[in-house]
Amino acid sequence: MQIIRVKNYEELSKKAAKILASIITLNPEAVLGLATGSTPVGAYQELIRLHREEGLDFSSISTVNLDEYLGLDGSHDQSYRYFMNQQLFDHVNIHIEQTFVPSGVSSDSQAACTEYDARIEDFCGTDVQVLGIGGNGHIGFNEPADHFIRETHIVDLAEDTREANARFFSSIEEVPTQAITMGMGGIFSSQKILLLASGKGKAQAIKDTVLGPITPQVPASLLQLHPDVILIADEDALSLL
Ligand code: PGA
Repeated sequence: MQIIRVKNYEELSKKAAKILASIITLNPEAVLGLATGSTPVGAYQELIRLHREEGLDFSSISTVNLDEYLGLDGSHDQSYRYFMNQQLFDHVNIHIEQTFVPSGVSSDSQAACTEYDARIEDFCGTDVQVLGIGGNGHIGFNEPADHFIRETHIVDLAEDTREANARFFSSIEEVPTQAITMGMGGIFSSQKILLLASGKGKAQAIKDTVLGPITPQVPASLLQLHPDVILIADEDALSLL
């Protein structure tokens, strides 16, 4: 794992966007694995700036997102489809039909999981996967558990995850209890992983991810086995290393 230490969130966002922009420039048909949450927002803003001011071209790019809340459709303002449209897709020249987010409202959620993995396989995996990390070490919504799950699957959200995400809803009761998430197989299908972490709240999870044993209790620890992981983290997130 390569670790890039940055001073602050702004620098993290610029570095992450620069890596993504170079992947897009070198391969205009790249498949980007994208993440939601507050951490990648600054990188998406920088990508939008690069599109507007420097002509970064998304017209042949495809994207595959990590996860979606179960029960929220794309028009719900807390759904991850809505988030991606607002934070990135609506502001660049990407073809929206080439952007994929798992469906949170499929009548057959198991079939939705299988279809999502088939989609990733059709793409032969992603060229890069952006990841945030939960304070509990989750990636996507792969929560601490007794074993790693390879496939896209339905997951019960951990209580600390629901509490962490309650800030986006009017009350914790409104935070969905389940989600559909890409599994470790989908994440590992990526050529390159860009793990982003900012703030003291991520310090323990980053320490466990980088130095701890590989365990499904810290899902991100499995990244120790991926051949090309770049961790971009600020001083606070690296403070326990
Ligand atoms: P955050 O979430 O970027 O909002 O901190 C990351 C995550 O929970 O994976």
